[in-house]
Amino acid sequence: MSDLDPFKVFLELQLGLPRNGPGSRASTEAAFAMLPALPEKPEIADLGCGQGASAFELIRLTDGRVTAVDLFEPFLDRLKARAEKEGVSEARLLPVRGDMEALSFDNESFDLIWSEGAIYLLGFEHGLKSWRRFVKPGGFVAVSECTWLTATPSQAARDFWDAAYPAMGTIASNCEAIARAGYELIGTHVLPPEDWWAEYYTPMRQRIAEMRETYGEAAEEVLANEEAEIALFESNPGQYSYVFYVMRRTD
Ligand SMILES: C[S@@+](CC[C@H](N)C(=O)[O-])C[C@H]1O[C@@H](n2cnc3c(N)ncnc32)[C@H](O)[C@@H]1O
Repeated sequence: MSDLDPFKVFLELQLGLPRNGPGSRASTEAAFAMLPALPEKPEIADLGCGQGASAFELIRLTDGRVTAVDLFEPFLDRLKARAEKEGVSEARLLPVRGDMEALSFDNESFDLIWSEGAIYLLGFEHGLKSWRRFVKPGGFVAVSECTWLTATPSQAARDFWDAAYPAMGTIASNCEAIARAGYELIGTHVLPPEDWWAEYYTPMRQRIAEMRETYGEAAEEVLANEEAEIALFESNPGQYSYVFYVMRRTD
């Protein structure tokens, strides 16, 4: 069989997982608990929402409305199917197909912008700067971002991330970026290793095995890459993780 479109293979792999990046209900709750105060019915945007792992948590944690934005329809279709199954109306969870780099919302639309595992697509500082105008003055932003936890990573980890995400920062450098982007930091939360395994890498390993069975060599390049990422995490504990950064817009 000839090679399959790598993006389609990646999409099929991702759509078979409960979430599309490291995270957990407990970490979403921990980051949310850092917010000092929100209006009774806050307007929230979840940018790069994927299938809605965090969006569904946010409607559980608040009485507000979550506008869930993603560029790719297949992810939003999953979110919509779950909303229908759970009886969640658009008054609580509004799916919007959109590019988080070119959002068409009015300025100061949101009390809170949330984004798990997606701001890296814009670059941490650039993303924070470009989203700032959509946050109400004094409003909040919470994002999770893959972050170095050591100044002395292994060569293998350094090589992998230099290729995959050369701009990956440390907690200290990201805190400086937060201030430059016009926010004050409220707190950080480092995602524990189980947030990478339980709903992401463990089901991904299973899915890789299934897709190998189905597609054989034709999907191998993508599957091997994902497998290498998992192996790197496994063999370099504590060197990097996603970190939640919770912040307030300053004016
Ligand atoms: C790593 S996934 C994280 C998904 C979800 N937040 C989660 O934690 O499960 C990144 C998401 O960003 C979406 N995405 C990629 N580029 C985008 C863009 N320019 N605008 C909006 N969403 C985008 C992808 O479709 C994907 O759902």
